[in-house]
Amino acid sequence: MAFAEALGNLQLNWPHIFAVLCLVAVVYKSTVLYLRRKDVMRHVEAFPGPPPNWLFGHVLQFKQDGTDLDTIVKWGEQYPYAFPVWFGPVACYLNIHHPDYAKTILASSEPKGDLAYSFLRDWIGEGLLLSKGQKWFRHRRLLTPGFHYDVLKPYVKQMAESAEIMLNKWESYAKTNEAFELFGEVSLMTLDSIMRCAFSCKSNCQTESGTSAYIKAVYELSNLNNLRLNTFPYHSNIIFYLSPHGFRFRKACKVAHDHTEEVIKKRKEALKEVNELGRIQAKRNLDFLDILLFARDEEQQGLSDEDIRAEVETFMFEGHDTTASALSYLFYCLACHPEHQKICRAEVNEVLDGKDYMDWEDLSKIPYTTMCIKESLRLYPAVPGIARKITKPMTFVDGRTAPAGTLVGISVYGIHRNATVWENPHVFDPLRFLPENASKRSPHAFVPFSAGPRNCIGQNFAMNEMKVATAMALKRYELIEDPTLKPKVLPRVVLRSVDGIYIKIKPVNPVG
Ligand code: HEM
Repeated sequence: MAFAEALGNLQLNWPHIFAVLCLVAVVYKSTVLYLRRKDVMRHVEAFPGPPPNWLFGHVLQFKQDGTDLDTIVKWGEQYPYAFPVWFGPVACYLNIHHPDYAKTILASSEPKGDLAYSFLRDWIGEGLLLSKGQKWFRHRRLLTPGFHYDVLKPYVKQMAESAEIMLNKWESYAKTNEAFELFGEVSLMTLDSIMRCAFSCKSNCQTESGTSAYIKAVYELSNLNNLRLNTFPYHSNIIFYLSPHGFRFRKACKVAHDHTEEVIKKRKEALKEVNELGRIQAKRNLDFLDILLFARDEEQQGLSDEDIRAEVETFMFEGHDTTASALSYLFYCLACHPEHQKICRAEVNEVLDGKDYMDWEDLSKIPYTTMCIKESLRLYPAVPGIARKITKPMTFVDGRTAPAGTLVGISVYGIHRNATVWENPHVFDPLRFLPENASKRSPHAFVPFSAGPRNCIGQNFAMNEMKVATAMALKRYELIEDPTLKPKVLPRVVLRSVDGIYIKIKPVNPVG
């Protein structure tokens, strides 16, 4: 009674009520965060690691200057197998950097982790990369035929045509002694190639002046994705969407979606004219988009329009940005190691025997070049890290257990440079991939395409593209390092470099 009277005497007005509501909200949110933090700390309590700041986690120790992945490798020397990395007060990944730990996770079909992956959802949708459970299983089964070697075979010619356009453009660089930026050039080539191969779309992206709007959007989206992970208030959808960065994210998403929708629209229009799969097949090879449009499961159910858009978006991005990163770093590695480059060139010239193009049959005849590609993927994995959220407790090889709900990050970069697994891990040595050397290692010591049920569906496509482009580049040009311009590795969904990747080139001396 006395309390009610006291309340009445307070004469509360709207600002007071608003202030009280804000206070209640802050207390509620803080309690939720506190409980979440306690829960996350319990997930990783068996795994000591570098001390985090209670609010920012380890984010302040990441300088975004090309040293962050090496910081992770250094921490790994102190904390074997796995250690926690915090991205704010409640977001934490158990970072795995050893093959024996990675094997436990990769052999399972645990779903992709939320956080970093969920940030990608507005962009690439619930395609094969992000979907889970029954949906993923059904789509993976429907799409696997799209990577059968019968489908991949005719792609080799398309890849060679895309590579030739790029190499023709390089003639202007070969005339100067100036270094040029590779990543942008190679991205245009791999985009052109995926458009031709998977979507039978002859794009002019390599010959049009400037960078493609789609590639710029992908670059922006990858950067914003990283910014979001490192800025913990942005883990909240509402805060991010209302921020200027959220606005930029939506704008870039629209550019990416417009690009893919145009591809689907054109094909649907073409299909109206030739409305039968058999007749298309007779006219040209089935491409990935045909497979998407005509995929049917046992109940004759096809994919919805939304599913098709998500898959096209996923393959457009995964199919070009990853290979652009892998090829750019490969060219850089070959430029730094003329001794290996020379052996590759001799091998390629022998196989090509005067031809300008690689054929399907040639792909298996360049073992030394293939070892260099693998060694470059080891040192510079195009996908430097992947993540899972485990739904049941997992016990690792040394007996430690991560409980259900733990977010697990697999540092592909960390595994590939783990000194307990690789001798002289930072040295480029393709002979590590001689069959007799590879057979002595864990199959999970080298996982650029991941492993297990969620491995990369496009790995043969990617390897073929890298072989074709490398062989054709080595036939025409000598790749030369510019020691003043070294790449600084930057994880941005794919592996990029702070200021790009630079090399010099000169025409190969026909007698040399
Ligand atoms: C050098 C090039 C490539 C590398 C290093 C690479 C690497 C990877 C890795 C590590 C994963 C596992 C991701 C995860 O678990 O979150 C993955 C998945 C995937 N990749 Fe690739 N990739 C490459 C090229 C490609 C290409 C060319 C395509 C398509 C044409 C492609 C399509 C996919 C798809 C759709 C998935 C998801 C598969 C699933 O979950 O079932 N990738 N890739």
